[in-house]
Amino acid sequence: MTIEGRDYNIYVGKEELSLLPALLLPYKKVMIVTDENVAPLYLEGLKRELNDACEVHSHVICAGERSKCVKVYLEIVNDMLDSNFTRSDAVVALGGGVVGDLAGFVSATYMRGIDYFQIPTSLLAMIDSSIGSKTGIDLERGKNLIGSFYSPKAVFIDTNRLMTLPREQIRAGLGEGVKYACLMGGEAFDMLERGLSDYDDFVRRCVEYKLGVVEGDMREAGLRRLLNLGHTLAHAIEAKKKFEIEHGVAVGMGIYFMAKAANANGELCQSELERVVKLLEKYELLERISEIDVSELFSFLRADKKSYGDGIYAVKLEKIGQCRVEKMSFEQFEDYVRGGCGR
Ligand SMILES: NC(=O)c1ccc[n+]([C@@H]2O[C@H](COP(=O)([O-])OP(=O)(O)OC[C@H]3O[C@@H](n4cnc5c(N)ncnc54)[C@H](O)[C@@H]3O)[C@@H](O)[C@H]2O)c1
Ligand SMILES: [Zn+2]
Repeated sequence: MTIEGRDYNIYVGKEELSLLPALLLPYKKVMIVTDENVAPLYLEGLKRELNDACEVHSHVICAGERSKCVKVYLEIVNDMLDSNFTRSDAVVALGGGVVGDLAGFVSATYMRGIDYFQIPTSLLAMIDSSIGSKTGIDLERGKNLIGSFYSPKAVFIDTNRLMTLPREQIRAGLGEGVKYACLMGGEAFDMLERGLSDYDDFVRRCVEYKLGVVEGDMREAGLRRLLNLGHTLAHAIEAKKKFEIEHGVAVGMGIYFMAKAANANGELCQSELERVVKLLEKYELLERISEIDVSELFSFLRADKKSYGDGIYAVKLEKIGQCRVEKMSFEQFEDYVRGGCGR
């Protein structure tokens, strides 16, 4: 199945990867960037697919967020220089969001930019990070502080690869999945309620939704902010818990608090609140919710002035399938969220 974006296509399905060799024919060399967990599972297979199309190189990084750094970025760039990569060669990112963001940023900057292709292998990368053209790396001082908007030439999603993804990574991906379900409502929400027997249809819906939002608003003004549903509180939860709660799980918790706040504020009706909470519970996103005291989160938001400036763009969940962005002062946001918790 092909989803046509403005600048590039997203292919969802097992057979679709067979289109990649033909797309790589114009390039002399390709550098596959992947990580140590994904490489033993999928690197050799991909190399076999691509070998006839061009000269295939690979660079395997350590798994995890710590690899999204300047040091590993330079290692890949130097590896490409050693192998004489030029602007008429290409990069393939095979992995989760870490590999995608890092290899995307290498591509955006190597000799002022070379073409790249995304093969996301984690659920989060399939529904979120591989779509929208954001690339980047982290600094000691914070995440994604260096980066660029740079689109891939194509994205290939094969949900069969999720069979090897560890359970906690599926859960983290589903935190973003519940976010999309709340934003889209309708069948997307119903599907998650019923349980996913096959990921293709749900992933396709998320991709189409995100693509629609970002193409309307590539550089994060209005519409794109909707994708931050649950994220303001999620970032505070991650900071408070020193990043030992996965991002997607923190997003689930953030949605929980925003849903409760909306309900207390007369926006989200009781029966819809119950549906949202049940869905979050079904996907094990609220198992640690009792550890989170909402009143302790606001200081983290205020400390993060850099991100928020003079206020917060709150994404309000007014109905399932109907969210709205509202700019609030810190005080207003705090009152709004506290309202949902009776504090
Ligand atoms: N660019 C964007 O718009 C955007 C959006 C959201 C998140 N992100 C970024 O994405 C990153 C998180 O991505 P992630 O959650 O995919 O993390 P990740 O890349 O670290 O992958 C999670 C883990 O799963 C493993 N893995 C991936 N696919 C696998 C598979 N099929 N089988 C077995 N193991 C597999 C990885 O080796 C890793 O250990 C963060 O750095 C975040 O900032 C970017
Ligand atoms: Zn997120």
